[in-house]
This record gives sequence, C-alpha cells and structure tokens, in this order.
Amino acid sequence: MLTVILLVILSPLIGWVIYWYYKVHYFEKYLHKIPGPKRLPLTGNALDIPSTLTMLPVLMDYYKQFRTNFKIYIGAQPYLFLTEPKDLEFVMIRRLYWRNPIYTSSSQRWLGFGLLTSGGNQWRKHRKIITPAFHFQILEEFIEVFNSQADVLVKKLKEESKKGTIDIYPFIARCTLDIICETAMGTSVNAQDDYDSEYVKCVNILLEIAMLRSFSPILRSVLYPFTSMCRRENSALKVVHDYTKSVIASRKQQFLSDADRNVESSDSLGRKRRRAFLDVLLEYSKTDPSFTEDHIREEVDTFMFEGHDTTATSITFALQAIARHPEIQKKVYEELQTVFADDPNRKATYRDLQEMKYLEMVIKESLRIYTTVPLLGRRIEKDVEWNGMTLPKGLMITMFVYCAQNSDSTFKDPAVFDPGRFNAENSKGRHPYAYVPFSAGARNCIGQKFAMFEMKATMSSILRNLELLPPVPDHKIALKNDGVLKSDNGVLIRLKMR
Ligand code: HEM
Repeated sequence: MLTVILLVILSPLIGWVIYWYYKVHYFEKYLHKIPGPKRLPLTGNALDIPSTLTMLPVLMDYYKQFRTNFKIYIGAQPYLFLTEPKDLEFVMIRRLYWRNPIYTSSSQRWLGFGLLTSGGNQWRKHRKIITPAFHFQILEEFIEVFNSQADVLVKKLKEESKKGTIDIYPFIARCTLDIICETAMGTSVNAQDDYDSEYVKCVNILLEIAMLRSFSPILRSVLYPFTSMCRRENSALKVVHDYTKSVIASRKQQFLSDADRNVESSDSLGRKRRRAFLDVLLEYSKTDPSFTEDHIREEVDTFMFEGHDTTATSITFALQAIARHPEIQKKVYEELQTVFADDPNRKATYRDLQEMKYLEMVIKESLRIYTTVPLLGRRIEKDVEWNGMTLPKGLMITMFVYCAQNSDSTFKDPAVFDPGRFNAENSKGRHPYAYVPFSAGARNCIGQKFAMFEMKATMSSILRNLELLPPVPDHKIALKNDGVLKSDNGVLIRLKMR
C-alpha cells in the first residue's frame, strides 16, 4: 500500500524531472554556444529573479558578465536575451516568424487577441483596420482632450504644491487614464476625481500579475488555477471586461441611433461628438460582420492596456528627471515662453506641440534611460537561422531594450541625463535599433505619435504653471519591471507655483 501511495506521489515528480531533462537537453543542442549564468537543475535561473523589483538589476548584472546576448532558463524553458542593436533589428523586422505572447497567458486572458497579443492574418487585418484611427486629423482633435485633462491635473498639482514632497505618479496615472478612456472609448472614468476607482485598481492588479507569471514556472504551471493569485486575477478581469463591455454597448446604442436618424453624433449640449477609437471600430464593423463585438472589446482593452500605463510612466520619469536638472528645466521653460509668447495662458495647439523641439529631446532622453517597456517578448514559431546557428522553435526571445538603451557600447556615459544626445548632430551614425522605446518594424507602437503629443501637452501645461524641484531629503528610485517600468518606492518631487 505504501509503495502505491509513494508511486502516486512520486510519478508526477519523476515525470517532470524527465520532461525537464529532455527539454533542456533538446534546446542545449542548439544554444550551447550562447553564454548564460550558472543555473540550478529543475528551476534554472528562476530563483535569481524572485520579484519584479530584482528583475532589471539581475538581468543587467548578467549583461555586465557577458557583455553580449545571453540566455537564461526558467525551469526548462530557455530565454534568449538580445542586447545588441543589430539583433534587435533582426527580430523586429522579421514579423512573419514571430508571435507576440509577451506576458504569456495572463495578458491573453485580458486582451484576448487584440493587436498586441495576436499574430498572423488576424493581426495584419486588424492593424489595417485600426491604422486610420491614428490619422493626424484624429490626433489633432484629441489635443483638446489632452489639454482639458491636463488642466484638471495642474489644478490638483497646484493644491499639492503646498504639501512639500509628493509622489507624483498617481496624479499622472489618473490623468493618462482619463485621457485614454475619453480618446479610446469616448467616455470618462473621472479617475482624477474618483481616487478609489475600482477599474484603475484592477488594471494595476492585472499588469502586476501578468509580469509575475511570466518569470515564474510555478505560476505558469497547471497549478496556477488553484492559487489565490488566479482568483485575484479572475475578479480583476471581470471588473475590467464588464466595464469595457458596458461602454461599448452604450456607445454602440448611440452610434446606431445617430446612424438611424442619419445625423452626426452630438453630445447632450448639441456639440459635434468627437470620434473615439471605438467609433472607428464600430463604423468598420458595420461593413464587415466578421469583425465582431468581441474583436472590438479586445482592441479597446488593448488601447486601455497599452495607452495608459505606458504614458503615465513616461511622463512621470521625465518630470522627475527635469526636477533633478534645473539647467534643463530652464531651457524647457524658455522654449515654452517662446512658443506661447503671444499669450502665455492659452491652450496648446497641434502646431505648438510640434514646435516644442527641446522638450521632445528631453522626453526622448527620458524614454532612453527610463525605458518604458524594458523587455519585449517573442516566441519562435519555426526554426530560424541566426548568426550562423539555428534558433529552435519554442525558444523565447526577449529583446532587452532597456539594456541596449543603457549600454555604454552605444551611449557614452549612459547614466548621464543628456537630451543633447538627440539633436541632429549627435544622432548621426547611431545604429537605428540602438534606441527603440516604441519598438520598430511592422509591430511597432501604433500609438507613438499619440503618446508624444499627449506627453508634450501634459508636461508643457505642468511646466508653464509649476516649477519642479527634487525631493527633500533626496530619494533613490527603486526601478521595477511590471511589464511597464515603475518605481517601487514612488517618484517623489516638490512643486513650486510659478
Ligand atoms: C510612451 C508611451 C508608449 C510607449 C513607450 C509604447 C511602447 C510600445 C512598444 C515597445 C510596443 C511594442 C510591443 C511589442 O512588440 O511587444 C508597443 C505596441 C503597441 N502600442 Fe504602444 N507605447 C506607448 C503608448 C501607446 C499608446 C498611447 C497607445 C494607444 C493609444 C499604444 C498602443 C499600442 C498598440 C496597439 C501596440 C501593438 C501594436 C502591434 O503589435 O501592431 N501605445 N507600444
């Protein structure tokens, strides 16, 4: 009897050990020439990366050890980390060979098969449908949204300026959430006024879980559905999906009733309603029934995922960099005084935003040092020849963009914040894939122009009204990778009314 019990207990373990042995053995036939840190049996390097907080320092230490591309194992699964610009280019331009399940099944459960997580024909078709939604004429209309939400933000920050040192991230995150809700769905969650928004909390839970799962063999195993994390994820998913579905339903209702009456969409005050991304998708779905409501939901969720946290992080880190560099802040402010010389209090226009050249260089430098999306994941779908060797099907590739952008092999003194790197002269001769905060190639960020305008509009509003100062006492940011770069201990800043 005891033997039977032991067999029942031990068989899965033995099965797993055999599976692990053969899988590692299989991949090593191809990957043995690629350097990698020492690893343990069964867990590989998983224990080196216990949290999202330690991830970037550990991975950067590996890079310092090998000074080139390297591999790690999470359990039996190998990950090839690409750090060289020419190798990032290799992956980014070969979209046909790669799928894009970045944060494994968690983001798939949330985003389904939206642009970010789909591949092949569906991705191609949807990218074609969605591209017109980012036409500059539509973006131009969104500037009104950026300005009005930035006004609310500035008002809040003016109140905060009396309090001394504050963590600026939550204020920015609520503002970018309001912006993306209004531009993607044509609605507002009023996050800037409703601090305890359930939706915001759940979005953050989903982002964190997706990242934790991607580097944990246990959380990616069949045991996951039995964990408390899975239950937490399920509840958050329900809140987020229900919200998007309800917005789509009411927008569709409005859209259909306007179409029936053959009138242009207008709001309760009779003003022409601004088109949201969702409207472009609803309009398209009228002509193509294969583009279903689920597809629309997935794309809208993708915008919410990609278009809120990314910009919040990018604006926050850029502001704290400006606060720490008074000479840079002075130059930004002088540029703003020139752009708004006719009327310092008027709203920014499309043209003004294009004229903010120095602010753009500051943002670019911030996106380099504080790489918003530090790691980009791909899975190889079929064997690929690369650098004289074969990369086997099933290998995970991680494009280590953070490393490429913070490496001294391309950027002299990479830790120094120097917007001058991005003037025309200094940009000459740099490998085009050494700086890719929005990725590149066919799967690049569809929202990058939107993001640049949003960042310039909100940052210029803040800087025209408030001077940014470093925190007292000083505070060292603890960077963590929640899929999007974050600070584990806040981003502290002081604000002074101009
Ligand atoms: C500073 C802000 C932003 C940064 C740094 C950023 C960065 C990126 C990166 C690196 C990718 C490639 C991901 C991959 O290949 O795995 C990406 C894709 C994407 N981004 Fe952004 N993003 C930003 C803002 C936005 C905004 C505002 C939107 C929408 C309004 C957006 C929508 C998307 C979408 C839909 C994709 C998937 C594109 C595809 O695969 O065809 N992003 N973004």
